[in-house]
Amino acid sequence: MSDAAGAGAAEAISRARELLARALRVVVFTGAGVSAESGVPTFRGAGGLWKSFKPEDLATPEAFGRDPRLVWEWYAWRRDLVARCRPNAAHLALARWALSRPGVTLVSQNVDDLHERAAREVAGDAEAARRAGPVRLHGSLFHDQCTRCAWRGPARAVDASTVAALPHCPECGGLARPDVVWFGEMLPVRTVEAAFAAAAEAEACLVVGTTGAVYPAAALVHTARAAGARVVVVDPGPTEYDEVADVRIYGPAGDAVPAILA
Ligand code: OAD
Repeated sequence: MSDAAGAGAAEAISRARELLARALRVVVFTGAGVSAESGVPTFRGAGGLWKSFKPEDLATPEAFGRDPRLVWEWYAWRRDLVARCRPNAAHLALARWALSRPGVTLVSQNVDDLHERAAREVAGDAEAARRAGPVRLHGSLFHDQCTRCAWRGPARAVDASTVAALPHCPECGGLARPDVVWFGEMLPVRTVEAAFAAAAEAEACLVVGTTGAVYPAAALVHTARAAGARVVVVDPGPTEYDEVADVRIYGPAGDAVPAILA
């Protein structure tokens, strides 16, 4: 980084810090990039999951209907991968910040559990961690739902033999599926309402590690902005929000987020 770029970055960090400190209500919107430094692959860009796998084979209700075993194998692999990862400095800084001041709503598109684990690490108790969020727009890798009845719950461990036999609902014995939102599916209504209500009231919106390409989730930032929120975007690459950002910080979340929220 040149001196000029370094000075520009330092100025952007300090503007972001001031803007966020002044706001009484803040909505934080995270995507796959916040977990990249923990070792969780993103979806788009170099090394992204959608470079090696096709969403229509693995992340649609039709794909699950056609070949549930293939879909379960992919989710079992992702669960195992995420279970080995740890929250990084960005998750921890966000958890510390959300727990230490009122008016912060954390909304995530991620299905990993790294925001929760960071909150538990910082708060030391599960109830406080639950209050720190996040509001999950795309579901959870570690929860299942039944395809036949209304059961939803924490996922039981899946290994090669459970995947071979396919996981089943503990209540009715129907086929279980990961409790995530697939392409072509509706987002959970109450969750969307909570997230967009927070965006509509926010005075500032901190966006971390998302291309902002997947709707309706991506509209959260535009909702916040239309309601008057100032927008801070942290991402090392280009995003759909670059033109609307009041402060744009090009860099990895693990460096920039702790610096902004310090
Ligand atoms: P993407 O893969 O589209 O974008 C990841 C973003 O993270 C990119 O803008 C990268 O530049 C950025 N990034 C990479 N490394 C980073 C780092 N160390 N720090 C900060 N940012 C970094 O992921 P999302 O925008 O989250 O949906 O994708 C949105 C949705 O598309 C996902 O929730 C998923 C996917 O299909 C569903 O599964 C429904």
